[in-house]
Amino acid sequence: MNRPRRNRRTPAIRSMVRETILTPADFILPVFFHEDAEDTPIASMPGVTRWSLESLVKEAGEAHALGIPAIVLFPKIEESFKTPDAGECSNDDGLVPRAIRAIKAAHPTLCVITDVALDPYNSDGHDGIVERDEWGELEILNDETVAVLCEQALCHARAGADIVSPSDMMDGRVAAIREALDEEGFTKVSILSYTAKYASAFYGPFRGALDSAPKEGDKKTYQMDPSNSREAVRETLLDEAEGADMLMVKPAGIYLDIIAKVRETTTLPVAAYQVSGEYLMLKSAAAGGWLDERKIVLESLTAIKRAGADMILTYFAKQACGWLAK
Ligand code: PBG
Repeated sequence: MNRPRRNRRTPAIRSMVRETILTPADFILPVFFHEDAEDTPIASMPGVTRWSLESLVKEAGEAHALGIPAIVLFPKIEESFKTPDAGECSNDDGLVPRAIRAIKAAHPTLCVITDVALDPYNSDGHDGIVERDEWGELEILNDETVAVLCEQALCHARAGADIVSPSDMMDGRVAAIREALDEEGFTKVSILSYTAKYASAFYGPFRGALDSAPKEGDKKTYQMDPSNSREAVRETLLDEAEGADMLMVKPAGIYLDIIAKVRETTTLPVAAYQVSGEYLMLKSAAAGGWLDERKIVLESLTAIKRAGADMILTYFAKQACGWLAK
């Protein structure tokens, strides 16, 4: 008789047949920071802090020491710097370039990834440049936005970013950013594209963390419809053809089918972003004493990797490293 349970009989045997093993090298830590000298706990994300520049450098070092290879930078930009054209996004003395330089100076071997999108910088809170059409409806201008994204990516590259990560979902931005980087000699800077980024309600806590919610309307004309999966394949093929080095699916845990599909479609590395709302769901279930935090987080991360993710962006990265070390 066939007895699959033989392969589950002892811890030793289970460890031999295990297909998916999490390691700190799988994780990318998203970090929030601001201009203030004080660190601020983020009300919408218990256990997550918005750091001062000085603390950000320290946090980056701690993550690196745990074996986490990369961080992604998410700045909170002061209201007074926000404009309709998001000009501050390519200021070489802005918050992000200063953060990149400080982190790279202190931790040169840590991989620094930057988010390329306009939502922290434009007064409309959208990822692109906003205009009103003749009927008064909001329109997010694609090609005008891509030109600004190229300036933003170049600014990050000049400051020393290893990877730029466009999260805006405009059409054609990967090719345009690649060309802009190459023209300026930044042939070594990689592009991690948010390939299949859905218009998800699970980003709510993140927008609270950065005050970056759209002032009007929603993001459904650029982020993908959660009902669609073939569209993720189409975006994958386009981003690959446009020269992306790595592709991302977002959110992660409730989009495992999309991760698996993207994994099958491309030979490029695939990243998945366990977003703020996923973090909050797991945290609150644990805080209520209803579920075991360590077990549910490691199981969620394992499932994301099993589905096909090579890299996982997660707010649990440091905690997970601690658990894996035990
Ligand atoms: C903005 C951006 C968002 C996230 C990452 N980059 C928010 C959005 O698209 O509205 C969400 C991350 C999270 O929820 O953890 N371009």
